[in-house]
Order: sequence, then C-alpha cells, then structure tokens
Amino acid sequence: MAPSDSTDLSFDEFDEIVAPRPGETDFDSIVESAVSRRGLLGGALAFGSFALLDSTFLSTPAKAAMDRFAFKAIAASSDDKVTVPEGYRADILVRWGDPLWSDAPEFDLATRGTAASQARAFGDNTDGMEVFSHGDKTLLTVNNEYTNRKIIWGNREGGKAANADDVAKGKAAHGISVVEIAFKDGSWSVVKDSPFNRRITPDTETMLTGPAAGHDLLKTAADPTGTKSLGTWNNCGAGRTPWGTYLTCEENFNGYFSAADEKHKVSAELKRYGVSSKDWGYGWASIDERFDVSKHPNEPNRAGYIVEIDPRKPDSTPKKRTALGRFKHENAECVVNNDGHVVVYMGDDERGEFIYRFVSKGVFAPGLETESLLTEGTLSVARFHDNGSGEWLELTPETTGMPLAEICIHTRIAASKVRATTMDRPEWVAANPNAAEIYCALTNNKNRGIKPNAGGELTPVGGPNPREANKFGQIVRWRPNGGDHTAKGFAWDLFVLAGNPNVHKDARAGSKNVNAGNMFNSPDGLKFDSNGVLWIQTDGNYSNEKDFAGQGNNQMLAGDPVTGEIRRFLVGPKECEVTGLTWSPDRRTMFIGIQHPGERGHSNWPGGGDSVPRSAIIAVTRTDGELVG
Ligand code: FEO
Ligand code: CA
Ligand code: CA
Repeated sequence: MAPSDSTDLSFDEFDEIVAPRPGETDFDSIVESAVSRRGLLGGALAFGSFALLDSTFLSTPAKAAMDRFAFKAIAASSDDKVTVPEGYRADILVRWGDPLWSDAPEFDLATRGTAASQARAFGDNTDGMEVFSHGDKTLLTVNNEYTNRKIIWGNREGGKAANADDVAKGKAAHGISVVEIAFKDGSWSVVKDSPFNRRITPDTETMLTGPAAGHDLLKTAADPTGTKSLGTWNNCGAGRTPWGTYLTCEENFNGYFSAADEKHKVSAELKRYGVSSKDWGYGWASIDERFDVSKHPNEPNRAGYIVEIDPRKPDSTPKKRTALGRFKHENAECVVNNDGHVVVYMGDDERGEFIYRFVSKGVFAPGLETESLLTEGTLSVARFHDNGSGEWLELTPETTGMPLAEICIHTRIAASKVRATTMDRPEWVAANPNAAEIYCALTNNKNRGIKPNAGGELTPVGGPNPREANKFGQIVRWRPNGGDHTAKGFAWDLFVLAGNPNVHKDARAGSKNVNAGNMFNSPDGLKFDSNGVLWIQTDGNYSNEKDFAGQGNNQMLAGDPVTGEIRRFLVGPKECEVTGLTWSPDRRTMFIGIQHPGERGHSNWPGGGDSVPRSAIIAVTRTDGELVG
C-alpha cells in the first residue's frame, strides 16, 4: 500500500518522491545551463516581447474576432457549480456510479457502491471521450481515468480501503464506459440495457499488437505468449481513427504497481516510467498478484500504450498498439495526410518528456484494410529549435541502436538517445481542421530549468518552454513544412503563454492575448470543433490566491486560431478538473467532462446539500437549439 500521506499528491509529485530524478542533486550544472540558455535568448524572453515567435495573431485588432464566438464571455468563479454563458444550459448526462443496466442498483450515497455494483455502472473520473453514430444509435465512449481515495472510499476511516471489496471497487471504477445515449423530450440520457453498453476494466482481456507483440519483455507467467494482456487503466485523453474506432490512452499506468518488500529495486527501464515498490494508494497488488512488480516485473511493460476499441462491436477485444510507443500517453490526434498516410500526434505527460508523431506505412482509403495502419509505421519525436523551426527525429534501430520492439517498449529511452526536446508536460494535441496546423497544451512544469527529467536530461529554459519553474503553462503550435504531416521539418510558435497580468508584469503575466478577463492556468484538454474553434480545458491551481488570484475554478475557454483571441466559456465546480469534450452528431450538444469535483473535500456537486461529489459528463446546449460554440 502507498504511504498514507500520498492522498493529496498528484501523480507527478508522487513519482518524484518515490523515484527522485537522476542527478537531481547536481543543481549547479543544471542552473548554469538554464542561465546560459536564457542569456542566449536574451531580450526575446525578457518579456512581453515575442521576437522569436510568429506573433502575427497578436497584432490583429480584437474587433476582427468579435463575432467568432457565439457566446458572451463569462467571469471567473469559485462557486460550487457549473457556469455557462447566457443562452446556454448545462444538464447532467451521466455520473460516476450510475447503473448502465437495469439489473444493477442505483448509486448508494452511503456506501458509494460495491465492487459488484461498480462493475455494472459508469466508471469514475470521466476524461477523454468520443461520440460515434451507428445506424440510428448514438454511442458515447468515455475514459474513466482514475479514482480519488477520499471520494471513492470517503465512507471509510481516513479515506482508505477497508477490505478487499473496496480495493476491487476502485479497480472496477477504472477503464472505459461505452454507453448508448439518446435525445428524448429535449434532453440526453443513457439507454439502460443497450446491447452496446459495455465496461472495459483493468481485468478485460486485450491484445498486444505491433512490433513488440510476443517480445520476451511482454511475457508473464499468466501469458507466456506476450500477446494477451489483461485490462487497461489510467486512460486519460482519447482519439478517433478515420475508420471510426476509439483510441484510449494509458497515462499514469505506473502508479498501480507495488512490491510486498518496499525495499525491492526495480530495473532502470521501469524506473524511467516511475514504477517503484510503492503504488499511488490503490492497493491492487493486495488482490491481484500481477501488480506486485517484484513477482511479475514484465507486467508494467504491458501498459502505457494507445489502445484501439471498436464501440460498435461490444464483444471485440481491445488492441494495444505498440507501434505508437509506450509512455504516459495523454491523447492521440489522428490526421489523414494529403497522400493518405495516417499521422498520429501524441504527448507524453510528465515533466521534461516529449512530443511524438507516428506515420503509418500504408495509406487510408475507404474500403481498404485498416488493421495494419496502427501496427506498421515510423515513430518520431520532436526537437524544437530556438529559431522557430523544428524537426522530427525518427526512432529506428539505426538512430537509437535499439531493436524495434524495444523502441516500442522503452520509448522514452529511445527518444532520449536522439536528443529530443524536453517539454513542459505535453498534454492534449489537437489538429486544426482548417489548416495544416497542430496545437499541444504544455500544462506547466515547476522543474523547468531546475531539475532534470526522469532520464537525467537537463531541462533548459528556451524554445517553446521559455519560463523557468513554469507555473502557468502554454500552448505550442506547429505547421508541417509544405503542409505535409509526414515532412521532417516544421515551424512552431506559441499560441498563448498563460499567466496572471494582475499579479505579474514579467513573463508570468502571459502573452498579449491573456488579460484580466480571460486568464487561466494549466491548459490541458484541447480540441477543435468542426468550425475551427479551439476549445481549451484547464487542470490547474484553483486556489484563486497569490499567483492564481482572479482565475477561480478550472474552466473551459474558446480560442481563435487566426486572431489569437481567447474567451472563457464555462467554469466548473470546486476542486474539479474540466476534461474531455465531444459533440453530438448534429453539433447542437457539447458533452463536457467534470472530473473529481471536491478532490480535497470541498464540493457537493452535482447533488448539492451534503451529498457525495461525483465526476460527471454534462450536456451543454443552447436554449434556442442552435449550434453550440
Ligand atoms: Fe490525465 Fe495528463 O492528464
Ligand atoms: Ca489531462
Ligand atoms: Ca493535467
């Protein structure tokens, strides 16, 4: 079990405590490097100048953007409710613990459910999601990323599991929920007992595919073939393929492994991913021995992938796509290049890790087979130069000295070998539907310029990571050379540097498109709508104090990729993260995820009163029934 004081730590914070950064004590060389890099960039980063950035959007008169967004900006708020603009409404679609079948009980507020009820109910902590049309059916496929111990076990002493059933309930709350939904009498609801309803959990059989399938590093006592793993967990962001399947992204998979002997030392390869003898407090090894890393050291190698799921086939086996690399996957943004190659952009969300691109070997065309498109291809990692150019570095046996299968398993190590750029925690990646242009949220990085990454690489200030100890985050975007998503080179700039212009006058004030009326911190979820508006969701500091005074709760904003204007659209309840969004097929409803309201004990959303806070998906519509956004 994890130490009791890990309850309020983020995954990153916990990882750094149990697995300190290599060479972390070598502060002098790190600081020297950071300082010399700042000297090199000189005045460009001595703020609010953006001489290195293509800042044309910043000079566009604000008036040009006046009509871009079909809503009026809302104010920041610290209220325990969802706030949307005038003329919009937000209804609850589904909450943690809501039964998906009529043979399962309604959520019990007193016990917060059992392992058996949770297995038949919507999972916890909603995150990435997509809507799929199937004949006259509408299927919503949703990640249930993780659980907060003080919430799911909030009825127990100290917010700790009291017995094996509690641990199993927590496990069953993870994974994916596939839910048929229907619009009836003016609102959306879950279709109970639909043959498409499905829970995929950490115990569902999955297939390992691609170059690493069958490799010795993926073989375990239970699966000597190295091709069948059990389950998926800590599914963060998502994606959809051009052929209509769902991609779920395994992120902080490491925090579920532990060892009976806390002195057990894991391999250097596992350490790079933060696997250790202590878990994040879930206790899974106590009910399922495969999570004891001292007994089953290959089990963690079977997680950390992009997993493809066909929501239209409830009996299909989810497929782990090792060709897309193993890291703390945030989301997976698919683009069909002009020549038909499928390109997938992906971030590895940890301080000082990288941004990746996968290019399929074959091409996509309706009617052609699609199975090989995510099993054969080339994985690359991004290097950003300070002059606004960048390049993709291929991860191959020639460039890394590693066999292909090992590149797919120890991807971080391969990326370090080619000297990719260490980034400020790459979260969601989003492709602009109106231009060959990709955006990535770099959420924050308190270690920038201060500590190395988990591989011991320095994290100097510079390029798209221009602020030391970055508290606020930024969004980088790049345009592939020639509009070709398979090109080696690209040009980049920053769409926004988040900050607080009320509190700071230096770099921490943010870029010119940030002001007292729209400021925020820690951009995370990013998605374009079909109209070309960039939606930005935050997962940051909601204290509304000091550096974050005036920013209120986590929120969602709309950004104009042409003018750079950013406008606040929604504010979530207390202590939540706003994450995951998708649209109904007619785009008259926007589904938005409200994750972990009350993670520190101060919310009763959505039930109100003194009820248990519950992660939920809301359906946002316009009261006049027009298109949202
Ligand atoms: Fe699950 Fe990086 O957010
Ligand atoms: Ca996220
Ligand atoms: Ca985040």
